[in-house]
Amino acid sequence: MRTKILAGNWKMNFGPAETKRFLEALSINPKSHAHMRLYVPYVSLTEALRTTQERAMTVEVGAQNLHFEKSGAFTGEISAPMLKEIGVRHVLVGHSERRQYFNETNETVVKRTLAALDQQIEPLVCIGETLQERESGQTQAVIQAQLSPILQNPTLAAALGKTIHLAYEPVWAIGTGKVATPAQAEDVHQHIRSLLRSQIGPDTANATRILYGGSVSPANFQELLACPNIDGGLVGGASLKLESWTQLWALI
Ligand code: PGA
Repeated sequence: MRTKILAGNWKMNFGPAETKRFLEALSINPKSHAHMRLYVPYVSLTEALRTTQERAMTVEVGAQNLHFEKSGAFTGEISAPMLKEIGVRHVLVGHSERRQYFNETNETVVKRTLAALDQQIEPLVCIGETLQERESGQTQAVIQAQLSPILQNPTLAAALGKTIHLAYEPVWAIGTGKVATPAQAEDVHQHIRSLLRSQIGPDTANATRILYGGSVSPANFQELLACPNIDGGLVGGASLKLESWTQLWALI
């Protein structure tokens, strides 16, 4: 059985003060079959790590991105060794907003994923198609194109299912309130798992968590979780409210 993950992506919300307030108000029962994780803004990482440690909370804390070089003339960027230095163990890579607005490509996603692993930081790699790609019947081809450079890299292939996991987020479902139906989501998750199986092997395919993301809410999470290939959620909007976040945890 794969341990499930409920991951919140706070995006550009919650500075250190709001982070502290949110975490101090969050009261959750630990679960043996699921992990809770929050990907918070860079400037809130230290506060999130401190508050969760002080309160012995079983909440993992991650960053939302990282640069692939260790250091150098990259104004405004943050490297994997910097994240490691402050105790970060998780990072999102290739979120569709990074791809859309910050020109991240499948190639830089590979570089960032390698940079994270090099510092023992566990990447959650995001993939997913746009509405136009779905409507023109290209969903499977896009997923394959996003996944192939990862599967073809021996270091990354060996880490999949161990320290690398995946999130499928159809771009048209992110922040739109238009959630994929469980059948649509399961269909792609199954495709992803079959690519893992055919290109790497059954053990990796069985061990890799594939989270669904895109307008997850307490109203639709249960149905999504009932799908055999959906191993949790990557949640934006509903991770920012204590009530919906707690409800999601109750459902996992
Ligand atoms: P959403 O965002 O839940 O607000 O749609 C999900 C995400 O972008 O990870």
